[in-house]
Amino acid sequence: MDGLAVEGRGVVLGYGARAALHDVDLAVPAGTTTALVGPNGSGKSTLLGAIAGLVPLRAGTLTVGGRPPAAARTRVAYVLQTGSADEVLPVTVREVVTMARFAGRGLLRRLRAEDRRAVADALDRLEITDLADRHLRELSGGQRQRVLVAQGLAQAADVLLLDEPVTGLDLVSRQRILRVVDEERAAGRAVVLSTHDLDDAELADHVVLLAGRVVAAGPPAAVLTEANLREAYGGRLLRTAEALATDEHLHAHAAGERHDAGTIPAS
Ligand SMILES: Nc1ncnc2c1ncn2[C@@H]1O[C@H](COP(=O)(O)OP(=O)(O)O)[C@@H](O)[C@H]1O
Ligand SMILES: [Mg+2]
Repeated sequence: MDGLAVEGRGVVLGYGARAALHDVDLAVPAGTTTALVGPNGSGKSTLLGAIAGLVPLRAGTLTVGGRPPAAARTRVAYVLQTGSADEVLPVTVREVVTMARFAGRGLLRRLRAEDRRAVADALDRLEITDLADRHLRELSGGQRQRVLVAQGLAQAADVLLLDEPVTGLDLVSRQRILRVVDEERAAGRAVVLSTHDLDDAELADHVVLLAGRVVAAGPPAAVLTEANLREAYGGRLLRTAEALATDEHLHAHAAGERHDAGTIPAS
């Protein structure tokens, strides 16, 4: 995928009568990382869902490799936030990662050597090969998250979407996942990830600061300014990323303000 992997103009997204995200412009080139930052309820997951073709647009245009997201699903790997996926099913690590090879290609297809290689490679890169025959429910949170990222990698998609891939993880899992993000970028993929950690966001090529709309977008240094963060987080800036991630009261406050402003007529 050359040039702009994901391009959005005036995108409006929502659920029921309520708009969750207003008027988003987005440009994600291949071979780059983009971090979505913002308080809880600011629209990070909703935007990822739209790129994955799972959340329909209310207005605007959004393309993945020049096509509407719903028509480009096989080119997008979407790694859900842990806790939201099927981690309690009685499936093994290898089975979960192998499922990726069937995404959009039909369940009756036989595994080829190429599929087995892709699965083995993804397990290896996340250092979970020795866990391959364990059930997901036997794993720690960090190990489970690595399995989900491995499933995303095994799809060999052009666009890799990661919803809070390192939130609350142990250091080892965190480092593995962030290293893989770097490798994917170097391999020419477009990586979009959401994070609560401003230090992680600073490592990205582009940052999009959300609060029910785009507060700021661009290089990390231009976006993660005190004024922008104060605006996004409801007028109160806490210095450390950890504080931003754990101050639920602040999040509820910031998200609530956006909700009141965010009501649009049902279509
Ligand atoms: N499935 C859903 N149904 C209804 N509202 C939703 C749903 N998912 C998210 N929302 C609402 O959309 C807004 C954005 O949520 P979300 O994208 O999950 O934010 P974030 O990922 O930044 O925490 C919030 O107001 C949230 O309550
Ligand atoms: Mg979310």
